[in-house]
Amino acid sequence: MMKIFAYGIREDEEPSLKKWEQANPDVEVGFTNNTLTADSARMAEGSDGVVTLQTSDYTREALEVLHNLGIKYISIRNVGFDNFNFQDLNDFGFTLTNVPVYSPNAIAEHAVLLMGRLLRRTPEFAQKIEDGNFTWAPTIGKEYREQTVGVIGTGHIGRVTMQILKGFGCKIIAYDVYHNPEIEKQGLYVDTLEELYKQADIITLHVPLFDSNKHMINDKAIEQMKDGVYIINCARGELIDTDALIKGLDSGKVAGAGLDVIDNENSVFGKKWSSIDNIPNEKIRNLAKRLNVIVTPHSAFYTETAIHNMITTSFDSNKSLIEGLKPDNIVNTNK
Ligand code: NAD
Ligand code: COI
Repeated sequence: MMKIFAYGIREDEEPSLKKWEQANPDVEVGFTNNTLTADSARMAEGSDGVVTLQTSDYTREALEVLHNLGIKYISIRNVGFDNFNFQDLNDFGFTLTNVPVYSPNAIAEHAVLLMGRLLRRTPEFAQKIEDGNFTWAPTIGKEYREQTVGVIGTGHIGRVTMQILKGFGCKIIAYDVYHNPEIEKQGLYVDTLEELYKQADIITLHVPLFDSNKHMINDKAIEQMKDGVYIINCARGELIDTDALIKGLDSGKVAGAGLDVIDNENSVFGKKWSSIDNIPNEKIRNLAKRLNVIVTPHSAFYTETAIHNMITTSFDSNKSLIEGLKPDNIVNTNK
C-alpha cells in the first residue's frame, strides 16, 4: 500500500482530501495541520511521498529529515516554489511537483477587484459610511475603460487578468520575457519594462519570484512610472521594495496600491492580531492603514474551486511519482 503524508492541511481542505482518499483506496493518507519543519518532518515516517503547502521557507534541515526517512517525492499544493532552495532539493535527490494551474481565475479576479476598489475609492467610502457620512464628494472615482493597464507576466494568471480587463474596456499592454503567441497576435506586448512603466495607469504583477527580479519595483522603476500610477501585486511580495512603494505613496507619485502579497508578509499574515496597531511589522502597518492601499492576506488564491483543485492535483501528482511515472508538472532538475 502506498502512503502519502500531507502537511499544513486546513479544515477547509478536508472534504476534498476525503474525496481523494475514497477515489484512491490503494493509498493510505496521513496528515497534520502543522507546516513542514525539521520537527514535523518526522511525522512522515513510513511514507513514500509528501504533500505540502506553506508560504514560509522549506529548510534544509526539514528536507534532510525527510531524506533520512527514505522519502523522495514532494508535491506542493500551490503554484510558486520560490520558498524551496533547489540546491537542497537536488542534494537530497527529491523530485518536486507543483500545481501550475489550480485556478488562475481566482487570482486574476482578485487582482481586477483590487483595481476596481482603488479606482472607486472603496476604502474611503467605507470609512465615510462608518462615520455616518453618506455624501458623494470629494470621493469621485475613475472608470476602467479610461485606464491603460500594464500586465507584467502573461502566463496563466496574467492572461486571465487580461481577458477580464478586456471585458471592462481597459486598454491593455503587456511585458513578458517569453511572448505568448495569442497575446503577440493581438499586438499587446511592449518591448521593455520602461515602455510599460511610461504608458500604464495601473501596473499588475504576475511573474514568479527569482533572485534576478527581487525588488524589481524599486525607486528607479517607480520614477519611470506615470504620476498617479496604481500598483497591484498578487504575485510575490519580494517583487516590490516596500520602502520605495511607501516613498512613492508619500509623494503622491503612486496614487494607490492593491497588495495581496508583501515582502516579509509571514511576520503578519496567517495570524489574528488584537488590532492593526499591534501587528509586528511597521511597514505593513504603514501600508494597511492607508485609505489608498488595500492589503489582503495572500488570499487571492482562496476560493472553493482552487482549494479542491490544489488537493486533487497535488495528491494525483504525488501518487504518480510514487508509481514511477513522470507527471508534466515536475519543477526541479531531477526530471
Ligand atoms: P506562469 O508560470 O503561468 O506565468 C509566469 C509568466 O511570467 C511566464 O509567462 C513567464 O515567461 C513570465 N516571466 C518569468 N520571469 C519574468 C521576468 N523576469 N519578467 C517578465 N516576465 C517573466 O505563472 P502564473 O500561474 O501566472 O503565476 C504567476 C505567479 O503568481 C506565481 O509564480 C506565484 O508567484 C503567484 N501566485 C500568487 C497567488 C496568490 O494567491 N496571490 C496564487 C498563485 C500564484
Ligand atoms: C501560489 O499558489 O503560489 C500561492 O501564492 C498560493 C499560496 C497558498 C501559497
